Amino acid sequence: MKPKQIFILTGAGISAESGLSTFRDKGGLWTQYKVEDVASLAGYERNPAKVLEFYNLRRSIHKDVQANAGHHALGRLQRVWAANGGEVVICTQNIDHLHEQGGAVGVIHMHGELGKVRCHDCGDVSLADGELSLHLGCGACGRTGGLRPHVVWFGETPLDMDVIFEKLSGADLFVSIGTSGNVYPAAGFVAAARSADIPTMEINLEPSENAHLFDDARYGKASEAVPAWVEELLAPD
Ligand code: OAD
Repeated sequence: MKPKQIFILTGAGISAESGLSTFRDKGGLWTQYKVEDVASLAGYERNPAKVLEFYNLRRSIHKDVQANAGHHALGRLQRVWAANGGEVVICTQNIDHLHEQGGAVGVIHMHGELGKVRCHDCGDVSLADGELSLHLGCGACGRTGGLRPHVVWFGETPLDMDVIFEKLSGADLFVSIGTSGNVYPAAGFVAAARSADIPTMEINLEPSENAHLFDDARYGKASEAVPAWVEELLAPD
């Protein structure tokens, strides 16, 4: 029987073929930068200009990338499932907007979004088009210098965890795509699904850290393995 409610977790691997670096693969972002310098509150407090420069560089790279066949396939799956009374929840650790570009809606960005800023002083979250700088003022409280990228840094709690666990616990299939399984709490979703007797599957270039916890696995490029899996699901019984 086909699943009715599918919970999909994605990571950097689904955007790799769109030209965005992953974190831990050869040449990945965390092999080029120190996490504690550019992705922690302590690093930001030590040198906010350096952190903003890192995110400005990422924002300029992200501007030119396009969703790949993996993102488009998930958008299609979501539409078809919704039209037939089911639900596909897409929860991503990625801060890019390629799922939305691929037609997905209601994407849960548990690690934040690169296109937004958050005021360090009042907490207001807003879209930010141009370069981030220490001279920008917050549209809500008016304070200058406190606009930080709306991304989750190490040591901070990921966003929307209550919605995530509600959706995950109601799922009848959990699929993890393009994530190494190194970063919690996302890396713990497969164990949570298993303990609720929800079938689990991973799609990744290679077995992840948690490979032994999945009931099923498909290894290959996301741009090929994801559309192939979606085609199978969409095929008539
Ligand atoms: P990683 O870089 O840790 O893992 C990427 C995974 O994608 C690896 O398992 C690769 O084998 C796989 N992969 C690479 N290319 C692929 C392709 N074309 N098709 C399919 N799979 C491919 O990235 P994440 O697991 O997403 O957090 O990292 C999780 C978090 O760590 C990120 O959200 C970020 C980072 O620190 C924060 O910044 C808070």
